[in-house]
Formats: sequence, C-alpha cells, structure tokens
Amino acid sequence: MKVKNLAIFLFFLVIAQAKKLGNDSTKTLRFTSSYNAYLSWSNFSNKYSRYSVFRNYECRHVNFSGANLQDTRFDETDAYKCNFQEADLTNAFLSYTTFENSNFQKAILKDVQGFFNNFVGANFQQATLKNMQNKKSDFFQAEFNDADLSEVYITESNFQGINFSNVNLFGADLSESNLSDCLFQVVNLQNAYFNLATLTNTYYDEVNLQGSKFESTDLRFSFFKNSNLDNTIFAESNLLGVSFQDSKLTNLKFQGSNLSEAQLENIVFINANFNESNLSKAQLSNASLQGASLQNVILENAILAGANLEGADLSGSQLINANLSGANLQNTNLDNVIFTGANLDGADFRGAFIDNTNFEDVNIEKAIFQ
Ligand SMILES: *[C@@H]1O[C@H](CO)[C@@H](O)[C@H](O)[C@H]1NC(C)=O
Ligand SMILES: *[C@@H]1O[C@H](CO)[C@@H](O)[C@H](O)[C@H]1NC(C)=O
Ligand SMILES: *[C@@H]1O[C@H](CO)[C@@H](O)[C@H](O)[C@H]1NC(C)=O
Ligand SMILES: *[C@@H]1O[C@H](CO)[C@@H](O)[C@H](O)[C@H]1NC(C)=O
Ligand SMILES: *[C@@H]1O[C@H](CO)[C@@H](O)[C@H](O)[C@H]1NC(C)=O
Ligand SMILES: *[C@@H]1O[C@H](CO)[C@@H](O)[C@H](O)[C@H]1NC(C)=O
Ligand SMILES: *[C@@H]1O[C@H](CO)[C@@H](O)[C@H](O)[C@H]1NC(C)=O
Ligand SMILES: *[C@@H]1O[C@H](CO)[C@@H](O)[C@H](O)[C@H]1NC(C)=O
Ligand SMILES: *[C@@H]1O[C@H](CO)[C@@H](O)[C@H](O)[C@H]1NC(C)=O
Ligand SMILES: *[C@@H]1O[C@H](CO)[C@@H](O)[C@H](O)[C@H]1NC(C)=O
Repeated sequence: MKVKNLAIFLFFLVIAQAKKLGNDSTKTLRFTSSYNAYLSWSNFSNKYSRYSVFRNYECRHVNFSGANLQDTRFDETDAYKCNFQEADLTNAFLSYTTFENSNFQKAILKDVQGFFNNFVGANFQQATLKNMQNKKSDFFQAEFNDADLSEVYITESNFQGINFSNVNLFGADLSESNLSDCLFQVVNLQNAYFNLATLTNTYYDEVNLQGSKFESTDLRFSFFKNSNLDNTIFAESNLLGVSFQDSKLTNLKFQGSNLSEAQLENIVFINANFNESNLSKAQLSNASLQGASLQNVILENAILAGANLEGADLSGSQLINANLSGANLQNTNLDNVIFTGANLDGADFRGAFIDNTNFEDVNIEKAIFQ
C-alpha cells in the first residue's frame, strides 16, 4: 500500500516538475513518465535527453540543436518550428506528432520509427534518415537536398512536389506514397522499391535507377533523362505518355504496363521485355528494339517508322494501323501477329517467322520478304 502511494506521489512530482519547465528548461531532462507538459521556447541545445518521452507536450519553438535525443519518444506532441539541427534522434519513436516547419539540418534520424507524423515544411538538408521507418506521414514542402535516405521504409506518405536533389535513396521503399510532381536530380535510386506509389509527372535527371522496381505504380507523363535504368522493372504500371532521353536502357522490364502514347523515338533498348504491355499510339520512330520480347503487346496506331525490330519476338501482338514504314523486321517472330491496316511500306521481313499472321488491308508496297 505504502509503496503504491509513494509511486503515485512520485508520478505527480514528475509531472509537476515537467509542467513548470516552461521557457527555462535546461536542468531536468529526463521525464520518462510525464505528459501534458508545456515546453515551448525551451532550450535543450547540446543537452543529453536520451530516453526522454515527450507525450502530449506543447513543445513549439524548442531549441534541441545538438541535443542527444537517441531512443526518445515523441507521441501526440506539438513540436512546431523546433530546432533539431545536428541533434541525434537515432532510434527515436515518433507518432502523431507535428514537426511542421522544424529544422532537422544535419540531424541524425537513423533507425527512427513511427507513423502519422506531420513533417510539412520541415528541413532535412544534409540530414541522415538512413533506415527510417515511417508510415502515413506528411512531408509536403519538406526539403531534402543532400540528405541520406538510403534504405528508408516510408510508406503511405505524402511527398508531393519534393525536390530530391543530390539525395541518396539507395534501397529506399516508398510504397504507396504520393510522389507526384517530384524532381529527382543527381539521385541514387538504385534498388529502390515503389509499389502502388503515385509518381505522376515525376522528372528524373542523372538518376541511377539500376535494379529499382516500380510495381503497379502511376508514372503517367514522367520524364527520364541522362539516367541509368539498367535492370529497372516497371511491372503493371501506368506509363501513359512517359518519355526517355539519353538514358541507359538495358534489360528493362515493362511487363503488363500501359505505355500508351509513350515518347520513345530514337531510343535504344537493349534486351527489353515489353510482354503483355499496351503501347498503343506510342511513338517509336527509329527506335532500336533489337531482340526485344514483345509478346502479346498492343501496338495499335503505334508509330514504328524506321524502327529496328531485328530478332524481336512479336508473337501474339496487335499492330493494327501501326506505321512500320521502313522498319527492320528481319528474323522476327510474327506468329499470330495482326497487322490489319498497318503501313508496311518498305519494311524488311527477311528471315521472319510468319505463321497465322494477319496482313489484311496493309500497305506492303516495297516491303522486302526475301
Ligand atoms: C517564452 O518565451 C517566448 C519568447 O522567448 C515568449 O514569446 C513566450 O510568451 C514565453 N512563454 C512563456 C510561457 O513564458
Ligand atoms: C541554449 O543553451 C546552450 C547550452 O546550454 C547555450 O550555449 C545557448 O546560449 C542557449 N541558447 C539560448 C537562446 O538561450
Ligand atoms: C539554439 O541554440 C544554439 C546554441 O546552442 C544557438 O546557436 C542557436 O541560435 C539557437 N537557435 C534558436 C532558434 O534558438
Ligand atoms: C532543386 O534543388 C537544387 C539544389 O538545391 C536546385 O539547384 C534546383 O534549382 C532546384 N530545382 C527546382 C526546380 O526547384
Ligand atoms: C497525389 O497528389 C496529387 C497532387 O500532386 C493529387 O492530385 C492526387 O490526388 C494524389 N494522389 C493520391 C493517390 O493520393
Ligand atoms: C492505358 O491508359 C489509357 C488512358 O489513360 C486507358 O484508356 C487504358 O485503359 C489504359 N490501359 C491499361 C492497360 O492500363
Ligand atoms: C490500350 O490503351 C488504349 C489507350 O491508349 C486503350 O484505348 C485500350 O483499351 C488499351 N487496351 C487494353 C487491352 O487495355
Ligand atoms: C515474356 O518474355 C520472356 C523472355 O524474357 C519469355 O521467356 C516469356 O515466355 C514471355 N512471354 C510471356 C507471355 O510472358
Ligand atoms: C528517322 O530516321 C530517318 C532517316 O535517318 C529520318 O529521316 C527521320 O527524320 C527520323 N525520324 C525521327 C522521328 O527522328
Ligand atoms: C508513316 O511514317 C512515314 C515515315 O515517317 C511517313 O512518311 C508516313 O506519312 C506515315 N504514315 C502514316 C499513315 O502515319
């Protein structure tokens, strides 16, 4: 009984102590069981606050710069416009907390975990977020230039319109997040994983996307420039109107993706797999698709004038009304291909495997068959 009373007394003592901290809180820094405290405008700068718990605090404008906040907890706390510059939040747990407009420049957020946090307008420049795990959080208008986000797992979160310049996103998993209108410039996205993510109108310049995976994503009207996409996988994704320019495109897989109206003229694909994709109205003039897998592809109204399809497997594909004028179709597999209404003017079919191929209403003027 006495022990219990003592415990209750100590519990309230701790709360009382926390509550009166207010503006001048540089002394007591461990309130592991307190909550509902008011800490706004406090100065924790360079303090050791490891294992502290900030639960349901009003914590606005607090200066945590350089503080040791490893293993701390922030739950249901208002940390609006706080200064976490160079603070160490390694292994912290953050939930239902607003860090709106807070400054995390050069802060360490390694192995942080949490969910439902508000990081709107937060500044993460040069911060380390390696292996951060966060769900359902809002990073709208946050700044990440030069930050390390390698191996993060930040899912179902909002990153709309972020400028990811010089950011390391190696192995990052951003599944189900909204990254529409984001800019990736000089970014490492090697082995990154996007499942069910929204990536409409994203722009990639000098990005390393080797081995990254986009599954069931929305990449409509995205633009890839000067990038390395060797071994990148776009499966079951919507790539309507996507364009590629001056990029490395070896072993790309587009299975089941929608590439309607994609802008691929003059692009050189090496060993690409487009099986089961929809390339209707795609622009592929003078593109090189040598040896590509194009099984069961829809190429209706696609423009393939001057394209090099030598050795490609087009079996089961539909090229209705496609323009293949001057295209190289040597040694292709045209088993069950439908060319109805296509323009095959000057196309070269030498060595092609033709079986059950539909050439109705085609223009085969000057086409070469042997
Ligand atoms: C704390 O300090 C700030 C300015 O430094 C002031 O605006 C605010 O009213 C103070 N709050 C309390 C509770 O003293
Ligand atoms: C905050 O505390 C640090 C270290 O204790 C001190 O150097 C600094 O001047 C304080 N800043 C303010 C604004 O009081
Ligand atoms: C936070 O404290 C550091 C010193 O510890 C000081 O340089 C800085 O100006 C303070 N920042 C704010 C926003 O009070
Ligand atoms: C993105 O950030 C980089 C680096 O800070 C900057 O040079 C560039 O102008 C920014 N781009 C846009 C569109 O804001
Ligand atoms: C993603 O953000 C855009 C605005 O940039 C918005 O229009 C769209 O509805 C959002 N999509 C999802 C799936 O949340
Ligand atoms: C491809 O996108 C077009 C236009 O948005 C749409 O009509 C069509 O159904 C899509 N096809 C697939 C396979 O997603
Ligand atoms: C392919 O995409 C076109 C739009 O560009 C759409 O009309 C058509 O229904 C799609 N075909 C399939 C099989 O999804
Ligand atoms: C798709 O392409 C691969 C070659 O990479 C092939 O082995 C496979 O059988 C193709 N067909 C289908 C229908 O997936
Ligand atoms: C394709 O190449 C031919 C011959 O080099 C050229 O005349 C034509 O303009 C090119 N088309 C495109 C869309 O680049
Ligand atoms: C097909 O492409 C050729 C070569 O670019 C062009 O001259 C012709 O007008 C195109 N035909 C159609 C129907 O688009």
